Amino acid sequence: MLEVLPRQSEPMRKQKHYSEVYASIQSLLTADSDWLAAMATIVSELHNAFESFDWTGFYRVVRDDHLQIGPYQGSHGCLDIPFKRGVCGAAATSKKTQLVPDVEAFPGHIACSSATKSEIVVPVLGKKGEVLAVLDIDSNVLNDFDAVDQHWLESICQLYAMRYPMRPSV
Ligand code: SME
Repeated sequence: MLEVLPRQSEPMRKQKHYSEVYASIQSLLTADSDWLAAMATIVSELHNAFESFDWTGFYRVVRDDHLQIGPYQGSHGCLDIPFKRGVCGAAATSKKTQLVPDVEAFPGHIACSSATKSEIVVPVLGKKGEVLAVLDIDSNVLNDFDAVDQHWLESICQLYAMRYPMRPSV
C-alpha cells in the first residue's frame, strides 16, 4: 500500500509519488481486468494516495454528449452531466484537461460538495480522438493542481485508453 502524500508537498516529492502510483496501477491491472475493474482500481489508487483529494472518479460517455457517473470514491456525485454543463462537460467538449484553481471562479461549475476548492478534469480519448470518459478529481485545497498532476493524470488516462479503447458500457 502506498503512503499518503500530505497536502501541498514539494514538487519533487509529488513527482516521485505519482510515479509510484502509476507503477502501482500498472502492476495491479491484469490481463483479466475489464474496464470496470480498471476504473475502480485507478480511482482507489489515486484517491488514497493524496491527502487533499476529497472526490475522485470517472464519468463515462454513455450516449452522445452525455456523461454518467462511473466508479468513484468520496461522497455521492452528480449522476448525469450533459456535455454542455460543468467542468466535466468542458473537458469532454474541448477534449482538453481542465485545471480549475478556484471552483468558485469557474462559470457553470457544478458543486457537489462545499469542501471542494479546486478541481482537475482529464478527458479519456479513444483511438480516433473520441471521448470515452473523463477523470474528475476534486481537492479541498485551493490551487491544488499543477502541470505535474496534469502530466501524470493524462498518462494514467492514456494507459487506461490503450487497454480499453471502447466506450465503457454495461
Ligand atoms: N464539479 C463537476 C461535477 C462533478 S463533481 O465534482 C463530483 C463539474 O463541474 O463538472
